[in-house]
Amino acid sequence: MNINKIQNLKNQAISSILEAEDKKELERLRIQYLGRKGEITKLIKELPELEVEKRKEIGGLLNDVKKAIEDALEQTQAKLQRIPPEDKEWSDITVPGEKIPQGHLHLISQAIKEISVVFEKIGFIRVSYPEVEWEWFAFEALNMPEDHPARDDFESFFVDQKPHSKYGRMVITPHTSSGQIREMQRTEPPIRMINIGRCGRPNYDATHTPTFHQFEGLVIDRGINVTHLKGVFDYFAKNFFGPKRKIRLRPFHFQFTEPSFEVDVNCPLCLGKGCKVCKGGWHELGGSGMVHPLVLESGGIDPRKYSGFAFGWGVERNYLMKSGLNLDDIRPLYEPDLRFINQF
Ligand code: FA5
Repeated sequence: MNINKIQNLKNQAISSILEAEDKKELERLRIQYLGRKGEITKLIKELPELEVEKRKEIGGLLNDVKKAIEDALEQTQAKLQRIPPEDKEWSDITVPGEKIPQGHLHLISQAIKEISVVFEKIGFIRVSYPEVEWEWFAFEALNMPEDHPARDDFESFFVDQKPHSKYGRMVITPHTSSGQIREMQRTEPPIRMINIGRCGRPNYDATHTPTFHQFEGLVIDRGINVTHLKGVFDYFAKNFFGPKRKIRLRPFHFQFTEPSFEVDVNCPLCLGKGCKVCKGGWHELGGSGMVHPLVLESGGIDPRKYSGFAFGWGVERNYLMKSGLNLDDIRPLYEPDLRFINQF
């Protein structure tokens, strides 16, 4: 039994099967190659006559050839079922339809949707503000003076070098906190805002990308204090991350809040005990604090009557904490690698 001969037989069989024009011819070809006395069947029957080594080699090859011929028969069968006979109107509702490839929302869009739903349930109003912002809204009104490091050319993406108007230069929105001022100007207390938007900063490493998203919460009313802030964060942790997840606050400094806190969530894997992934048991979500009186004034709100709290957290990092993916790199979220994206 010769390997070349078998290969030739396979090529011949497959090309005539793929060219078959009707079901009758296809059946004839099936019998010719795979029928009880078919050419491939005959060769398979002769296998026991071969020496052990040869039998193994040829046996494997014949199996592959048989499978390839069966696939070609199946493929042509499916094709012929879809071809209408020329003289009759053709319709067969039992023929399986062709599957249309279906896309899905990108991971970040899914995250934004889920975050909005959690906050909308407790009365927060979803808003969006400009992705290119005046310096005044992004820094000045948030009590970040001209010499603040975040206003250096290499810390934010400034669109132009010289001020255009009384609001200064334009900048790619470096954080959603500029939405605090816009919301205070748009409406009046009581305010419960959730502003989710795209931000830009010139950073690039495993936990920083030049484009990223933040969600900014702002609550302003009479008598708002730190217990309200903590209550909302606990609610968010349980509803977004799951019932076993907890939030902790660490003292911090932001120009636009006083007092200020960094917010952490316990690790999804060890729930706060400490493991290889999280080291200390906690992951940082973002900043928060009680709105600084100067910021309320920038937004036209009287700090003697009203108080509030605000928080601004990264969408990408928050979502990774939730899914327990153990990804320590957010960059694949912005790369066009479908092998990664299609997992979600
Ligand atoms: C701020 O941006 C403050 N505006 C947050 C805030 C709002 C504090 C309201 C107080 C009150 P920070 O620079 O730490 O803070 O960014 C907050 C979060 O945004 C970070 O914890 C991180 O999750 C995310 N983040 C920041 N820069 C990047 C980046 N380059 N890539 C991905 N995520 C980022």
